[in-house]
Formats: sequence, structure tokens, C-alpha cells
Amino acid sequence: MDAIRAEHLKKAFATVTAVNDVSIAVKEGEIFGFLGPNGAGKTTTIRLVTGVLTPDTGTVHINGIDIHRHPLDAKMQMGVIPESSTVYGDMTAEQNLHMSGKMYGMPRALRDERIDEILLRMGLSEKRHTLVRTFSKGMKQRVNIACAIIHRPRVLFLDEPTSGLDVQSRRLVIETIQDMNEQGSTIFLTTHNIEEANTLCQTVCIINKGKIVAQDSPERLKKMFDTTQSVEVSFDRPVGRDLLSGEGILRAEPCGDKWRLYTDNPDQVLKYLIGRAERESIGITSLATSGPSLEEAFIQITECT
Ligand SMILES: Nc1ncnc2c1ncn2[C@@H]1O[C@H](COP(=O)(O)OP(=O)(O)O)[C@@H](O)[C@H]1O
Ligand SMILES: [Mg+2]
Repeated sequence: MDAIRAEHLKKAFATVTAVNDVSIAVKEGEIFGFLGPNGAGKTTTIRLVTGVLTPDTGTVHINGIDIHRHPLDAKMQMGVIPESSTVYGDMTAEQNLHMSGKMYGMPRALRDERIDEILLRMGLSEKRHTLVRTFSKGMKQRVNIACAIIHRPRVLFLDEPTSGLDVQSRRLVIETIQDMNEQGSTIFLTTHNIEEANTLCQTVCIINKGKIVAQDSPERLKKMFDTTQSVEVSFDRPVGRDLLSGEGILRAEPCGDKWRLYTDNPDQVLKYLIGRAERESIGITSLATSGPSLEEAFIQITECT
């Protein structure tokens, strides 16, 4: 059974069709990335899938439960972190967490236990009795996430969770997503940060102008749209361009203290470089290959649709 199953969702606001026949299936235990430029329909889709909005047409099932027929049952399985924070500024971090736990029907003792654990995990233990309105954006987002996962939801939805956060908060948010997933939760994540989708997600779905234009693993999406790879190399002394031509090398470009060599055949280039450097007693100080980027694929997909 799919953890999240949405079929033929459609939602129009006046003249704008924000979501146009979107179908999504997310397997249990997966981290699913929903990627698209601003205004593509990501937030509207997440609102439809979490039952905040009612679709014009289409259905949504969370762990097999129809969200529009049985909203409460479905919502008990979920945690939702919306685009803008929903925490209460005139309450402390701990009070926010108690209130969220109560809404999910958690008894006091269980709430106490989880709150200690989660505040520690989020680096907020010392701030538990401080009013949330005094918190930085990153700290507010940590409280926001803590409130959404206090009941250990089986399915977690996050709408651009790291957008605009400081480095430390961003790392905590990413680690929390990974922890939740390792403990069995299915994750649905919207983002316009391609690198984030690339490193976190098993499946990426790209939405543009309300329609899904591609869905696959990040690796396969990259391969589909760009076959050129590169090898980055640096040497212990300057080398001439003659050393960096032929043998599968399509193009060589200086790049800081390194060279970037574009190729369809990185294996051939690596073997050549190592052999040639050895023969000429040149030291290789660094050597790395990198595939085509998801960013390249994303731009090609969204520009041609
Ligand atoms: N409540 C609303 N009323 C009118 N138009 C809306 C509303 N919500 C979203 N839209 C429009 O729907 C489209 C998709 O928006 P949204 O889902 O927020 O995109 P994203 O989250 O990908 O940036 C945009 O054109 C936006 O202006
Ligand atoms: Mg949005």
C-alpha cells in the first residue's frame, strides 16, 4: 500500500489553475521530493494532500484512508510543517509542544517524555521556558517541526522546510528529516533547492505550471537530460594543455587551482591521467569525478514545458 496516494487532483483559484491533474504515489518509507520553481503549485498540492484545501476534483488517501471522507483519522497519521510557521509567539517552546501533543490526544506523561527528548534533539532545551516570539527564524522553525513530529507521525509533510534558515538550523532540520525516515516515517518534502532534493530523496517529482513534468530517481533524471560528466584534477606543478587533450577528454577548463575535464567516459580519462602522470613523474594532488547535475536536468525540464 502507498503511504500517500493522490489521484487526478485539480484546483483552480479564479482564473489560475494552480494544480492541474496531479497524481502522486509515495511508497511507505520513502523520502519523496516535490520540486518546482516558485508558483509551480507545490504549496497548493501539499494543502490538497494534507486536507487543508478541498480539490475541485480528485482523491487523496493517506495509508489507505480517504482524507476527505475521514479527515481526522487521516490527520492522526500525519505531521505537517506548512510554508509559514504556525507556532504561537506568546507561548513558550514547551507550551507550544504541550498544546500540539494534546491535539494529537497524547497523555500528559507521554508528552513530558517526548518534549524533553525533542527539545534536546532540536538544541532548544535551554530555551524551553522562553516565549517563541523572541526566537530567530531558524529556532521558530525548529519549534514548528518539533510540534509536527511530537506524536511520531507515520507520514511527514514539509513545505520548503529549510528555506531562509541559518546553517545550523538547516542542518538540524535535515538531520531530523533523516532520523524520522530511519525510524520508518514516510517523508513528503517540497523544495526549490535542487541540491537538497538530490541528497535527501529517493524519488523526485518535478512540477511546473500546475502539471507534473517528470518523476524518477535523482540519478536517472540526471542521466536522462545530460550525459556529459566531468573529472576534476590538480597536479603538484603546472601542466600544459597538451597533457589535457585527447583520450576521451572533450574539453578542459581551468577551475581555481584545478582543471575540469569534460567527458562521456570518465573511466578512460582517469586511467589516462594516472598513466601519463606516472610516466612524467607528475604528482596528482586531487582527483574526483562528478556526474551531470540535477540542476541541469531541472532547467531543461522546466524550460521545455
Ligand atoms: N489562495 C490563493 N488564491 C489565489 N491564487 C492562489 C492561491 N494560492 C495559490 N495561488 C496561485 O496558484 C499558483 C501556485 O501557487 P503555489 O501552490 O503557492 O506555488 P508554489 O508553492 O510552487 O510556489 C500561483 O500562481 C499562485 O499565485
Ligand atoms: Mg510554496
